[in-house]
Amino acid sequence: MRNIYIFNLFLCLGATATRFLERNLAYKSPFLDAPQLGHNIDNLHKRQVQHVRRQMEDAGIFEDEHYVTFYGSDFSNSPFIWSGGLNFTHAGKMLGDPFDTSVLLWARAAPLPSSGSSKLPDQSVPVCLSYQVSKFADLSGPPVDSGEAFTSYDVDWTVKIEATGLQPDTKYFYRFSDCTDPTSTSPIGTTRTLPRPDTAADNVNGGNPFILAVFSCSQYQAGWFNAYGYAANFVKPDIYIHLGDYIYEGLGNGASIGRQTLGRELATIFDYRQRLAQYRTDESLRAAHLSGPWITVWYVADNAWKAGTADSNDTSIGCSFSPSGACFTDRKLSAVRAYHEWMPIRQVVSNDKLRIWRNFQIGRLMDLTMLDTRQYDRDLTDVSVIDKLVNTISSYENRSLMGAEQEKWFFQTLSQSQARGAVWRIIGQQIVFTQLNLSGTCELSKDAWDGYRANRRRVLDHLYGNKISNTVILSGDSHANWVSDLAYPNDTTKYNPISGEGAIGVEFGGTAVTSPSSFGPISQPETVIVSQAFVAANADLQWSEGFYRGFFSLKVDPSQLNATFYAMNDIASANLKGFATAEFIVKAGESKLSRPVAGGTVLAGALKS
Ligand SMILES: *[C@@H]1O[C@H](CO)[C@@H](O)[C@H](O)[C@H]1NC(C)=O
Ligand SMILES: *[C@@H]1O[C@H](CO)[C@@H](O)[C@H](O)[C@H]1NC(C)=O
Ligand SMILES: *[C@@H]1O[C@H](CO)[C@@H](O)[C@H](O)[C@H]1NC(C)=O
Ligand SMILES: *[C@@H]1O[C@H](CO)[C@@H](O)[C@H](O)[C@H]1NC(C)=O
Ligand SMILES: *[C@@H]1O[C@H](CO)[C@@H](O)[C@H](O)[C@H]1NC(C)=O
Ligand SMILES: *[C@@H]1O[C@H](CO)[C@@H](O)[C@H](O)[C@H]1NC(C)=O
Repeated sequence: MRNIYIFNLFLCLGATATRFLERNLAYKSPFLDAPQLGHNIDNLHKRQVQHVRRQMEDAGIFEDEHYVTFYGSDFSNSPFIWSGGLNFTHAGKMLGDPFDTSVLLWARAAPLPSSGSSKLPDQSVPVCLSYQVSKFADLSGPPVDSGEAFTSYDVDWTVKIEATGLQPDTKYFYRFSDCTDPTSTSPIGTTRTLPRPDTAADNVNGGNPFILAVFSCSQYQAGWFNAYGYAANFVKPDIYIHLGDYIYEGLGNGASIGRQTLGRELATIFDYRQRLAQYRTDESLRAAHLSGPWITVWYVADNAWKAGTADSNDTSIGCSFSPSGACFTDRKLSAVRAYHEWMPIRQVVSNDKLRIWRNFQIGRLMDLTMLDTRQYDRDLTDVSVIDKLVNTISSYENRSLMGAEQEKWFFQTLSQSQARGAVWRIIGQQIVFTQLNLSGTCELSKDAWDGYRANRRRVLDHLYGNKISNTVILSGDSHANWVSDLAYPNDTTKYNPISGEGAIGVEFGGTAVTSPSSFGPISQPETVIVSQAFVAANADLQWSEGFYRGFFSLKVDPSQLNATFYAMNDIASANLKGFATAEFIVKAGESKLSRPVAGGTVLAGALKS
C-alpha cells in the first residue's frame, strides 16, 4: 500500500526538486520584498541532498533511519524524506487570512524517534506532509485542493500552505497527513472562505449574520484561555480576530494555577518558538484554532514602538536588558520570523518597516481593516523610564501613531469602502481610541490613542469630513471593557452623549483573555464604582467594565450589528463557564450606539445612563 501510494505521487510530480520546499510558506520571508529574511531554498535543498551522497559513498555501516526518497529515479537531485513516523505536535492546527478563493492552512509535524530509542531523529532530513481540502466533514470524494510540502527544523517543523481554487463564502474541511504513511494524520479542521468583494450584503453567508469573535491579551501564566474555547463552543464565529498580545515575552509566575511559563524573557528565535509552542498546548486555544480562520495583528513585546519596547531599544543600555544581550532590532526580527512560522498570516507587500496592515473585503457587507498601531511606524510611547516626556508631547501635531504611509492608506481604504457600497467599516487595531480621562484617579494612558492626539483628530476629521458612516473601531490592550460613541474628545457641542446624535461611529474595546485587570486587584463592586466615575467623566464613553476576563462577538448583518460582551467565571482552571454581560446594537446608517444603550441593562460594569 505504501509503495503504491508513493508511486502515485510520482506520477503527479514532474516538478523541480525544490517545489516541496517552495510550497511551504514558512520558508519564505514574512515580506515579499525582503527575500533576505527568508530561507535560501536552493541551499536547503543542497543540504538535504547530501544525505543521498552519504549513503552512496562508502561511509561506514549503513544505518536504516527510515528514509524514503520522493522524486522517483532522479537520485542525483533528490533528498530522502523522513518515514520513521510523525508527531502532529500541535493537534489544533490553525488557519487564517482567508480570501474569497484561498485560505492559509497550518500544521506542525516533527519526526518521531524510533520506538525505544532516546536518540533524536536526524534533524536535517525533511519531513513531507500532504494536505487535503474538502467540502465534506469526512473528507470524502475528490479533494478540492491537495498537495505536498516539506518542512524541517529550519522552520521549527511548521508548514504553512495556501490552499487555492476554493469557492467563495464556503465552508471547508482539511487535514494533513504523512506523505509516507497516509494513515498518520492530523485532526480534521474547519475553515471558510470569504464572500467575493462584490457579493450583495444580503447574500453574504447565505443571508445569515456574519460573526466575528474578538480577543486580546492572552497571558499564559495569568490564567487558562477559556475565552477561546467558550467562543469555539457557543459563539461559533466565522472569523476569530486577535488584536495583539497573543503571547507575552515575560515569565511571570503561574505555578499556583499550573501555568508556569517555560524558558526566559523572549529575545531569540528559539525563545519565541518555545513560547508559541507552549501557548498552543492550551486546549481552548487549540479548539478555537481548529474551528475557523483567524485574522491577527502583532505582539512583539510590551509597549512596542518603532524603535524599542518598554524595556529595550538599540542603545547599549537598552540592549543590556535582554537576557541574551540581543538588541531591540534583533529581538524584533526573531519575533517576526517566529510569528510568521507559527501564525497563519500572509506574506505582505511591503516596501518598508515590516508592514502587516491589510484589508479584507467581506462582500458588500463590510470591510475588515486591520491596522498596526504598535510596530509599524509609531513614535515613542510611554516606556516606563520616560513616562513624563510622553505626557508633555502627547498633543504635538508632528507625533504619529500610524506613520504617514499607513495613515494615507487607512483614509483611502475608508473612503473606498464607502464608495464601493460596503455597509460596515470594521477597524481591528490594538489600542483604545476614545479619550479616557479620569484626572486625579487614573491618568490617561499614553500607550493608547490618547498619547497621539493629533493622529486621532485626523482620523475623526476624515470620518466627519467625508461623512463616512457605520465605522466600528475594535480595540484591545487595556485589559478592561470600554464601549463608546465615536466623537471628538470631550466635545459636547457637536455630540450629545444622551441621544448619541452627532457621533460618527462606535468603538468596542474588549477586555483581556487572561491578563489582569487594569483597574487593579479590587473586588467586583469596587470596579463598578471606578467604572461609574469613568462614564461620568468621559462624554463619549457609554459603558465601562473592569472586573471580568473574556472577549466579545459581533454579529453583523446589513441592517444592524449586535455586539455581545462575554465574561469568564473562572480562569484559574480549564473550564467553559461564562456569561454575556452586555449586548449593544448599532443600526446601519445611525453611526452611534442604539438607545437605550445596551437595552438599558448590563450584568456587570456601569452604563452612563
Ligand atoms: C508529541 O508531541 C507532544 C507535544 O510536544 C508531546 O507531548 C508528545 O509526547 C509527543 N509524542 C510522542 C509519541 O513523542
Ligand atoms: C533605551 O532603554 C534604556 C533602558 O531601558 C533607557 O534607559 C533609555 O532611556 C532608552 N532610550 C530611549 C530613547 O528609549
Ligand atoms: C514636533 O513638534 C514640537 C512642538 O511643536 C517641536 O518642539 C519639535 O521640535 C517637533 N519635532 C520634530 C521632529 O519636528
Ligand atoms: C471637558 O471639558 C471641560 C471644559 O469644556 C473641562 O472642564 C473638563 O475637565 C473636560 N473633561 C475631560 C474629561 O477632559
Ligand atoms: C482631563 O481632565 C482634567 C479634569 O477634568 C482636565 O483638567 C484635563 O485638561 C483633561 N485632559 C485632557 C487631555 O483633556
Ligand atoms: C440583535 O439583537 C436584537 C435585539 O436584542 C435581536 O432582536 C436580534 O435578533 C439580534 N440579532 C442577532 C443576529 O443576534
